Amino acid sequence: MGDANFCAAGPPRRSSRIARGQLWLLGYTTLLLAMGGEGADITCPTECSCRTIFDPEEGTELRISCIRGNMREVPVEFLDRTAQVLVISAPPERPNFLTIGPIFTQPIPFANLRELHIVNSNIPSIGQYSFWGLQNLRLINMSHNNLTSIGTDNFRGLINLTELHLDHNKIEQMPSETFRHLTSLKILILSNNKITSLVPRLFRMLAKLFYLDLSDNPLADLNPEVFKDIQHLRIFKCRRCLLRRVNTQIYHLVPHLDELDLGENQFKYLTSDEFISLKKLKKLKLDGNQLSVIVDNMFGRNRELRVLSLARNRLALLAPAALTNLTTLVHLDLSHNKIDKFHLQTFAPVVESLKTINFSGNNLPLNEIAIVLQILPDIHGVGLANLSLEMIPPNFFTYNEHLVALDISWNKLTTFPYKLLTKTKFLQRLDISHNKLQILTEQDLQRLEAIAQIDLSKNSWRCDQCSAGTMLVYMTTSVLNGTIRHLKCYSPIRLRGVYFADMTFDRLDPCPSTHEAQMSVIAGLMLLCVAVLAAVAGALCCTRRRAAHYYTNEEKRREHDVEHPEELLGRTELGSVATIHAPYHLVSKGS
Ligand SMILES: *[C@@H]1O[C@H](CO)[C@@H](O)[C@H](O)[C@H]1NC(C)=O
Ligand SMILES: *[C@@H]1O[C@H](CO)[C@@H](O)[C@H](O)[C@H]1NC(C)=O
Ligand SMILES: *[C@@H]1O[C@H](CO)[C@@H](O)[C@H](O)[C@H]1NC(C)=O
Ligand SMILES: *[C@@H]1O[C@H](CO)[C@@H](O)[C@H](O)[C@H]1NC(C)=O
Ligand SMILES: *[C@@H]1O[C@H](CO)[C@@H](O)[C@H](O)[C@H]1NC(C)=O
Ligand SMILES: *[C@@H]1O[C@H](CO)[C@@H](O)[C@H](O)[C@H]1NC(C)=O
Ligand SMILES: *[C@@H]1O[C@H](CO)[C@@H](O)[C@H](O)[C@H]1NC(C)=O
Repeated sequence: MGDANFCAAGPPRRSSRIARGQLWLLGYTTLLLAMGGEGADITCPTECSCRTIFDPEEGTELRISCIRGNMREVPVEFLDRTAQVLVISAPPERPNFLTIGPIFTQPIPFANLRELHIVNSNIPSIGQYSFWGLQNLRLINMSHNNLTSIGTDNFRGLINLTELHLDHNKIEQMPSETFRHLTSLKILILSNNKITSLVPRLFRMLAKLFYLDLSDNPLADLNPEVFKDIQHLRIFKCRRCLLRRVNTQIYHLVPHLDELDLGENQFKYLTSDEFISLKKLKKLKLDGNQLSVIVDNMFGRNRELRVLSLARNRLALLAPAALTNLTTLVHLDLSHNKIDKFHLQTFAPVVESLKTINFSGNNLPLNEIAIVLQILPDIHGVGLANLSLEMIPPNFFTYNEHLVALDISWNKLTTFPYKLLTKTKFLQRLDISHNKLQILTEQDLQRLEAIAQIDLSKNSWRCDQCSAGTMLVYMTTSVLNGTIRHLKCYSPIRLRGVYFADMTFDRLDPCPSTHEAQMSVIAGLMLLCVAVLAAVAGALCCTRRRAAHYYTNEEKRREHDVEHPEELLGRTELGSVATIHAPYHLVSKGS
């Protein structure tokens, strides 16, 4: 076959539109893809791949993707004009350097083009009329380029465009009416640019816009005027926009908003009527701000709120009526604040609806958390990371039968909380990484086998035969295989950092030696001598007898503490249950 090297690996080739010799000289190959039963020909440049695929919604379509990088121009004359999807991209180490003019519209337009992606290509500007005549184009993705400004003429003729992604560019300026021709636009992503202000009438004609992302722009302030033109907005994001406040007139203009993300800004306080206009709000993210208090009735009018994140603020307090009217709240994230206690009434509105709550990284003692958990019987996920926990009492989740996900990572647990976990029958995700666990016993391992997703990494695993032997057995024989093989030994020093996967029983240290056992006998004898001496001294010193007597009793109580701390905690907890149940019922009846 004379033209054997002509054919790129791919489906069988029969003919091509362009003379083969000519293509060979140019270094392009053609290939034919059987399109449905028609057997139509398509051409495909070597640096691209072309596939016809069947999309349930769009039918059979041709997708061309040129993603190898190092391109200086789009090989547009060799691209099949019937393509529906065109992707031009590059790996980070082989970026493209492209300019685009009206290349997709002249001489013959890509009349069927539905999606155009040109990313990682250092495009400096779009050019006038670049997309003129692409009436079927619905999505333009020009993220990760080098655009510094955009204007009205860039988007002429795109009457059916619904999505425009211009994130990760260097856009500073956008004049009034920039998007005037995009009357069908629904999604506009402008995140990660250098936009400092929103000029009046910027979004004119975008009456159908429902998703606007301005995150990662140094805006510092939002001009309420621009929101007049986008009153059907449903999702608005402005994370890391250097905002200190938002003019609440904005919320008044976009009453249909159901998702608002203002995370990682610089809010210090919110007034109690801040979100009063947003009656349809379902998801609100205020994480990573500087809020120190959530006042009473803050979300009183946001009755449909389902997700609320207040993580990474400076909250010391949730006011007693902070969650008033949030009877459909499902996820509440309070992690990484400075909360040290709760008003039980705060949680009364959410007792029926709340499914996950995150307490991680606060100054909360366990009993404050226990008091809240006992009124949340439907809770599925609990975050208890970064709370300096040394142990968790076995009856801690007595009232939370439905627990499915538990994060107790980044604490100081030294033993696996086996008893606690025997009572959480439905647990499917457990993160206990970054603790000080040294061993897992056979019964611990059996309990773990029934949990689908486990993270045990970054603990102080002891690699001697007595401690790690059973773990090695489970590694080779059970579903814990994957979990255990990624753990690393912590002690002895000789084995620190060695993966369990690379470990065999013979490489483990022997069990603590008989020499150590002898040493402990000697230590015991010495203690006995000290005790005898003390007794003699005590007998000699009659005046201190009472004090000595008391000391012994105190010692006994401490011993009891250490052996059965759970019982003690259980009792105090039950005590507190009795006292706190009363006000809770009052509250729930009253509301
Ligand atoms: C594009 O817009 C034109 C004019 O509004 C319309 O006739 C046509 O059906 C639209 N095409 C698609 C694919 O929506
Ligand atoms: C834009 O293109 C990049 C690279 O192909 C892709 O990762 C990203 O998901 C695209 N965005 C959209 C909205 O399709
Ligand atoms: C990106 O744009 C800036 C500003 O116009 C320019 O200085 C820089 O050279 C451009 N980078 C590339 C890779 O084209
Ligand atoms: C709670 O919702 C009810 C009914 O919509 C409303 O009358 C009441 O004012 C709301 N409470 C607050 C504090 O906004
Ligand atoms: C808090 O915990 C919830 C549920 O466990 C989880 O979905 C969320 O990501 C956590 N938040 C943070 C900030 O870790
Ligand atoms: C715990 O705190 C550490 C240190 O601040 C942080 O890196 C980690 O992400 C936190 N983990 C969780 C689950 O909150
Ligand atoms: C454990 O996992 C390793 C690597 O994924 C695999 O090679 C081995 O067959 C697995 N053993 C068992 C018992 O599942």
